[in-house]
Amino acid sequence: MHSRIRTFGEYRAAYKRSVEEPEAFWAELARRFSWKKPWDTTLEWNFAEPSIQWFRGGVLNISENCLDRHLQERGDKVALIWEPNDPTEASQKITYRQLHERVCRMANVLHNNGVGKGDRVCIYLPMIPELPVALLACARVGAIHSVVFAGFSSRAIADRIQDAACKLVITADGMCRGAKRIPVKEVVDEALQECPTVKRVLVAKRLHLDVAMKPGRDAFLDSELRKAAQKFEAEPMDSEDPLFILYTSGSTGKPKGVVHSSGGYMVYADYTFRNVFQYEEDDVYWCTADIGWITGHSYIVYGPLLAGATSVLFEGIPTWPDGGRFWEVVDKHRVSLFYTAPTAIRALMAAGPEDVERYKLSSLRVLGTVGEPINEEAWEWYHHYVGKGRCPIVDTWWQTETGGILISPLAGITPLKAGFATLPLPGVQPVLLDAEGTELAGRGVEGNLCIKFPWPGMLRTTWGDHERCRQTYFAPYPGYYFTGDGARRDEEGHYRIIGRVDDVINVSGHRFGTAEIENAINEHEYIAESAVVGYPHPIKGQGIWAYVICTPRAPGEEQLQAEVDELVSKLIGRIAKPDVVQVVPGLPKTRSGKIMRRILRKIAAGETDNFGDTSTLLDPEIVDTIKEGALVKL
Ligand code: PRX
Repeated sequence: MHSRIRTFGEYRAAYKRSVEEPEAFWAELARRFSWKKPWDTTLEWNFAEPSIQWFRGGVLNISENCLDRHLQERGDKVALIWEPNDPTEASQKITYRQLHERVCRMANVLHNNGVGKGDRVCIYLPMIPELPVALLACARVGAIHSVVFAGFSSRAIADRIQDAACKLVITADGMCRGAKRIPVKEVVDEALQECPTVKRVLVAKRLHLDVAMKPGRDAFLDSELRKAAQKFEAEPMDSEDPLFILYTSGSTGKPKGVVHSSGGYMVYADYTFRNVFQYEEDDVYWCTADIGWITGHSYIVYGPLLAGATSVLFEGIPTWPDGGRFWEVVDKHRVSLFYTAPTAIRALMAAGPEDVERYKLSSLRVLGTVGEPINEEAWEWYHHYVGKGRCPIVDTWWQTETGGILISPLAGITPLKAGFATLPLPGVQPVLLDAEGTELAGRGVEGNLCIKFPWPGMLRTTWGDHERCRQTYFAPYPGYYFTGDGARRDEEGHYRIIGRVDDVINVSGHRFGTAEIENAINEHEYIAESAVVGYPHPIKGQGIWAYVICTPRAPGEEQLQAEVDELVSKLIGRIAKPDVVQVVPGLPKTRSGKIMRRILRKIAAGETDNFGDTSTLLDPEIVDTIKEGALVKL
């Protein structure tokens, strides 16, 4: 069997085999790796509990598979190219051998600081080499990493640290993003006031700021690394031992910690990376995501390193010092595989073609997008201006929970269609269900996207609350994994992802639950109640519209918006700030007290009629009042 698909016929054959003989299919792929002990059973599963076990009884360490496994053949090959925020600062190239040594040293530091198998480590770092090194070092000692995106606030960090009872935090003194400097250590210090489980904090020096260090708790990473030995024997891990936790938002309450396994995740990240991008040994691959999100975990760190690829790690942003920054980096490092988000493409598109036309981009071979639906205009722009009409675009659909890409073209192998994620990867069995949970057969149908068979990269549980995992993903449609997305299968059998069918908003490819934002807004002393919805936004995909009911002493709308911004930034992070805050006298509620969000979504989208049946509303007139108030803001 081929672990790399090379033709459409091979894709069809691989897909067929993956459905007919899933265990044999995945077992063959898993044999590419170094196992300290082979597995006993390839798959045991039951979606009712859920209980999903791949390669049970197998013993491995993923850091060994990312690093040690390559040393003989490609020890001197560049594993990571670090491109700093500021183009005038030198980039760094780190070979597999050097990365191996850095990871071993970091693993020793963790071990020396009392971290061992099963302990949770929170990583709050900017995009500097210490970040992938920290992930791999955690994996090497058997600790479970929980990366928190460095744009989240201290309250959000504290929530995540408390939920996982992390023992140690790895952070930096500060970070840079475009022209901004951010005092990262201060944010962590504030969070840690509420986190008694954290015994140690290791601080990387990025900006060489004069930061406060708490005696007995805080240490600088560089001095710890100097004391550490160069070798570290990787901890034997069971295939099903958790590798990491990553928090993501759902439609209710607090973000949940999605748990991924060691063995299955490894096999899946590697297979999908190599096949979707059609990776070749001399490619230079660049995924512009942040490692704080799943895309960075699977397709900056694990997937590319498992494949022995050269992966670019970019600290900056697409628009600084100007809109040509991405393209400058592509030419500079001769990037051949480029993976970004539709929101970045739309932002650069809005700035005009001059910035992209200044660069050759002749090294590019494959383009990818992820995180949200890509509109046709952005797809065409990407294809024409960036890919010069010759690079296939892989529109990859997946989720934090899926661990890796589920539906996507294979670059240059399977057909492309703008706006479509197209076909499922081998091993992935998507179905569309109607509201009653009946499978919609055939083509030209639209429904709730579910997956009916396990794949190795899928989540295993949500940290500390298995029941929540069951309720969220496996209870809505018994016997299926429910994605939360709606999709359409067209006449040719290609999938188009329509968007979330639950109360999740996707802002610039980042997920937020409406309840999560409402809870933050409701902490305002003069806000009695709020309702948040997403609305179409030209750059971000979706913007956040907050309808708020105020108490009598509230400030004017402008002042209120500023205060809400500050509150949401403090409680979640700047990325979750509402774009619009509209003061309303009431909300459209049914007699049972349920907010009719459908109406609020329509108003925010600028629709003035077609509100459907409003007869069950307690006060139908409120709809007109809200509509009038909204018109001023549109
Ligand atoms: O709604 C889908 C959207 O992003 C959600 C998953 O978000 P997250 O867990 O943060 O992971 C993002 C990166 C994998 C999905 O439920 N989404 C992701 N990729 C696409 C997409 N929507 C349309 N097309 C995509 N390619």
